[in-house]
Amino acid sequence: MSEPFAVVDVIIAKRDGHRILDEQLDWVIDAYTRGAIADEQMAALAMAIVWRGMEPTELARWTAAMIASGERLDLSGLDRPTADKHSTGGVGDKITLPLAPLVAAHGVAVPQLSGRGLGHTGGTLDKLESIPGWRAGVSNEDFLAQLRSVGAVVCAAGAGLAPADRKLYALRDVTGTVESIPLIASSIMSKKIAEGSSALVLDVKVGTGAFMKTVESARELAETMVGLGTAHGVRTVALLTDMSTPLGFTAGNALEVRESVEVLAGGGPFDVVELTLALAREMLAAAGKGDVDPADALRDGRAMDVWRAMIRAQGGEPDAALPIAREKHVLTAVASGVLSRVDAYAVGIAAWRLGAGRARQDDPVSFGAGVVLLAKPGDLVTAGQPLVELHAMSRSASSAPSRHSNPALSSAAS
Ligand code: URA
Repeated sequence: MSEPFAVVDVIIAKRDGHRILDEQLDWVIDAYTRGAIADEQMAALAMAIVWRGMEPTELARWTAAMIASGERLDLSGLDRPTADKHSTGGVGDKITLPLAPLVAAHGVAVPQLSGRGLGHTGGTLDKLESIPGWRAGVSNEDFLAQLRSVGAVVCAAGAGLAPADRKLYALRDVTGTVESIPLIASSIMSKKIAEGSSALVLDVKVGTGAFMKTVESARELAETMVGLGTAHGVRTVALLTDMSTPLGFTAGNALEVRESVEVLAGGGPFDVVELTLALAREMLAAAGKGDVDPADALRDGRAMDVWRAMIRAQGGEPDAALPIAREKHVLTAVASGVLSRVDAYAVGIAAWRLGAGRARQDDPVSFGAGVVLLAKPGDLVTAGQPLVELHAMSRSASSAPSRHSNPALSSAAS
């Protein structure tokens, strides 16, 4: 098939700081998805976008083309409103696990297409796959049926949803072109808009463990995504939340499932409960149920009931024992004082190296591996007190760093 444009012209235009024409934008996304543009050419264009950015109207057209590259789910036939949440990714970010059943327990359907972890950030699907029998793959028919019967589905996006992003994200991952506000915003929002929810709450993380290290860049990303969602008729709001310290006390797949179940049982770490409730309030309000107190369903067990039904519907056994690491190594405080910082990025890297994460999309993960924090910033600690547990399947993975090479923890003498 003869192509209407030469991709090199588009690359040069963007490299030199010009806006790409609407017809060229539509064509680039379509041609790349069907294999008519080579990876090296798309990589060059992505790098030009990293450097030159995109104008708002240009980004809107690019995102619309990404959505149009695949199917758009129609959830309008459901008997209740829908709301979804997306986090830009962090360390110990297990919030989807208690949040989806909590919001569903209040009569709002939660269609949540989630991802796997890459690098130092964990992925919701990896966490749930640590539950014996649970499967991430759900057909479109089963997706709709589960939304009707249970009210919440957390699963992998099907191949038909925004295929342009699937291909482009994998390319960006290996070409140093992930860190770009227009590329991140269009990648996330094309999938979320195609998923068909009528309301979306964005949890934009900021801090060392997040993609966005400063409040200014996180705000710009949030505003860009809210603008794209709103333009496509999705009620979209964003919260900027801290990711300089891991959420809760655990980072690692089965460890985080256990902590999430504690939240569903009415307990759990304060920061995880607080963020779960804050996001639930926003989702309920966006779905027209701003007058309900989401905490009720944690207290009376309704959220736990939905969780159990949600896990069972995807083949999982909610009461099965979760994988446990074979090896544990404890790091202790080198001095007495106040723990001033637990660096989210360093903890994420540690969990990843212990086996909880993957270096490539198809690497296996070790479900029992990860990090357990025994103290958080602000805690008084005494020399020799256990501060961190490293969990791994093999001794070599969990062997301790030297006393002075532990960048995750810093303390101030009191
Ligand atoms: N998550 C996505 O889905 N896309 C990005 O570009 C970054 C994070």
